[in-house]
Amino acid sequence: MGPPELSRSGTALSSGTCWARRATTPGGRTSGSRSRGHAVEETEDARDLYAAAAEHWVEQERTRHYVLVPADEALVDAWFRVGFGGQHAHGIREVPAHTKIAVPDRFEIRQPQESEIDALIEVGLALPRHQQMAPVFSERPPPSEEEERQEWLAILAGDEEEQVLIGYLGGRPVACWSVTSVERSGMHTGLARPGRAAFLGFAATLPESRGSGIGVALTDACFAWAAEHGYPAMITDWRETNLLASRYWPARGFRRTFLRLYRSIL
Ligand SMILES: CC(C)(COP(=O)(O)OP(=O)(O)OC[C@H]1O[C@@H](n2cnc3c(N)ncnc32)[C@H](O)[C@@H]1OP(=O)(O)O)[C@@H](O)C(=O)NCCC(=O)NCCS
Repeated sequence: MGPPELSRSGTALSSGTCWARRATTPGGRTSGSRSRGHAVEETEDARDLYAAAAEHWVEQERTRHYVLVPADEALVDAWFRVGFGGQHAHGIREVPAHTKIAVPDRFEIRQPQESEIDALIEVGLALPRHQQMAPVFSERPPPSEEEERQEWLAILAGDEEEQVLIGYLGGRPVACWSVTSVERSGMHTGLARPGRAAFLGFAATLPESRGSGIGVALTDACFAWAAEHGYPAMITDWRETNLLASRYWPARGFRRTFLRLYRSIL
């Protein structure tokens, strides 16, 4: 989960499907396609189109390529056969009308308070710190503690459109989940945006509390919030290279819709 690693500035290269972007990270410029679907009848055509686009990209030293592909086996196979591999997934599932929340013993779930901000910063940093490690190796550095503090202050200042829930163990924050409307997501756009859906935008548990059941309870609390607010579906996304997340979300019923595939030439 979390925002993509690339800058939002892009240059349209063709009529609708392909975009080139400058990467903000070192190691070569990046080009790719956004969630506009694939207007090909034969999956092989995607490979020909890529070859045509990639020729220009590599001439311009844009050597890191990504593509957002509907999670269709034949299409993914076509991209696999021009050197792409799975990097990121979008997932969707229905919101149950009623969800029972089973909070594990000694835990509680509630909204955060400003007096807890130092502990909240640690929980907020748990996700980017995890993404730095194998086998994700994210190039995006975690925010500084000060940046994280500012983000928490903004959250604590109150945003009725976003529900931030904290899991506490013995009164100490150990997990954080956030849910809002898909309209607040910059990643789930175009064809990848369902009509009306809740967006589970953040989830992290401190390493020592993982596997305790607090994550499942917080996920269920998000389903209950979404049902209460009339959302029929929930979406989220995860790094496929994040072993914990890429196992956890499918186990919670999320089905893959779009996949971000990635190829580095050099
Ligand atoms: C993914 C993540 C958020 C899950 O949170 P968590 O608090 O560990 O979740 P839980 O403890 O509720 O559940 C984890 C697993 O333990 C199982 N579990 C729950 N209670 C358990 C118990 N008492 N005994 C044994 N296993 C238990 C759950 O069923 C789940 O397994 P499953 O997915 O195979 O069903 C957590 O691993 C994490 O913070 N990872 C790093 C950051 C990250 O990847 N965030 C998600 C970004 S998309």
